[in-house]
Amino acid sequence: MTQTSAAAAERELAEPYLRQVLDTAGLAVEYVRAEGNTLYVRDDDGAEFPVADFAGGYGSVLLGHHHPEITAYARQLLAEHTPIHAQFSRHPYANRLAAELNRIIARELAEDEPYYAIFGNSGAEAVEAAVKHAELDRGMRVAELLGSVDAGLAAARAAVADGSATVHGEAAARLGVALAADGNEAVRLLEAAIRRHNDETAASPPLFLALEGGFHGKLAGSVQLTHNEGYRLPFKSLAAQARFVPHDSPEDLNAVYARERRVLLGLTAEEGRITVTEHAFPVFCAFLVEPIQGEGGIRVLSRAFAREIQEFCARIDCPVVVDEIQSGMGRTGALLASSRIGLRGDYYTLAKTLGGGIAKASVMLVREKRYRRDFEIVHSSTFAKDSFSSHIALKVLELLERDGGAAYRRAEERGAALRAKLDALRAEFPDVVADVRGHGLMQGLEFHDQSEASSPELRQIAASGLFGYFLAGHLLRRHRVRTFPTASAVGTLRFEPSIYVTDAELGQLYAGLHDVCTLLRKQAGDELTAAGR
Ligand code: F0G
Repeated sequence: MTQTSAAAAERELAEPYLRQVLDTAGLAVEYVRAEGNTLYVRDDDGAEFPVADFAGGYGSVLLGHHHPEITAYARQLLAEHTPIHAQFSRHPYANRLAAELNRIIARELAEDEPYYAIFGNSGAEAVEAAVKHAELDRGMRVAELLGSVDAGLAAARAAVADGSATVHGEAAARLGVALAADGNEAVRLLEAAIRRHNDETAASPPLFLALEGGFHGKLAGSVQLTHNEGYRLPFKSLAAQARFVPHDSPEDLNAVYARERRVLLGLTAEEGRITVTEHAFPVFCAFLVEPIQGEGGIRVLSRAFAREIQEFCARIDCPVVVDEIQSGMGRTGALLASSRIGLRGDYYTLAKTLGGGIAKASVMLVREKRYRRDFEIVHSSTFAKDSFSSHIALKVLELLERDGGAAYRRAEERGAALRAKLDALRAEFPDVVADVRGHGLMQGLEFHDQSEASSPELRQIAASGLFGYFLAGHLLRRHRVRTFPTASAVGTLRFEPSIYVTDAELGQLYAGLHDVCTLLRKQAGDELTAAGR
């Protein structure tokens, strides 16, 4: 390598600012190898040392890094020259994957209405496929509604023309038009006002409903469904907006509906009079919900509020998109965490562990009742539904389902063991630990805010917006434990290890967190910053 190219290679060009942030928090290490629940770092002498992985690839390695059966299968697929790029041909493996997902979902929901599958490559892409499908469906429903309004207008016109109905001042006043003396002219004026109103209403952009603290991705559409304003507001003008409602507040659901509801208008000839009719307009395209919020702080959706959402959406005919990208694929002891709280989605999104830790795969599932086949013509992706990721995802499902669902039971059991450690810390350090939340292998530990701490370093860390990252840096350096805060709620550390996490690793995590809690109790902020390294 010439000197210039060596210098160029050292210069950080791949997201250099993030690199600085990693440096600040003490997280700028390179992992050189990964296996099971362990990542390896090389020390200054070139020797590898293990780090227990509680970040779990942001939740994408529930079956561990390089699961031996998954990697062996991947090798086999490549050795067999599986046709990875064979777009617009039969994809029986994708069909098998959809069938297997359906079989498991039917079991968990105890319902057999099929879900059709649209594949993608990333979580946000699956979310965007769901909202695009929901918008296509909404548009078609609006067209049907406008068709029936048109039929009503034609019938009203005919009734006035043949003298079987007359226009009264009430209808004209309702639409803000003058009442013409001639009946045919009067009905024409009503119709024009109605068309103006309906055209304007039908052309208005849809709204989405989502929960405060929710995270559904960072692409142009999905970021508008993600609550964090820092991510969302700079891109507000790029896509349709969401209204965010707090957890456990049915009143807010009803209030947002009352505020945003719109109607289409029509006419009917009843008892010899022309009357203005109102038809509920589908303002809301979809309601997005995570059964357990991940990035927003590990917040569990209550069974009661899930029911409220379900009933509310049924009442206003708004589809529910259950985003299982982080909570799904067995993490909470079931394929769908939502099935545990009785929530039924019109759509589901799955990603992360679907790719077995080696493929990039996601899927959007839509129930038959809502399905619009035209979507398949208007939506596609070069890489989606390929043989490699479909086969790998099938292998993942095989591993989850094997031995009567032993992997789900293991997620529950390891999750309970992890939870017991976190609960013990909370009991010992109530002054430091504010809350412990989650289910199965999706757990979060929230620290009390340190912005008023007596330690100036802690106050500074709290003000930096990187609080949890500094704690993660300390855990990595001192305890060889990898974890992360939930990025939109940095006071919460999240723990999403693989089902192979051992008691020893849980002990290692406990010891690390015990140390962190002790430092916070002692207000030894300097230990958590560069000074402590
Ligand atoms: N939905 C949920 C519930 C997620 O947790 C994520 C990603 C996405 C959608 C987007 O998926 O990154 O594949 O496009 N969550 C990451 C996290 C960023 O913090 O766990 P993506």
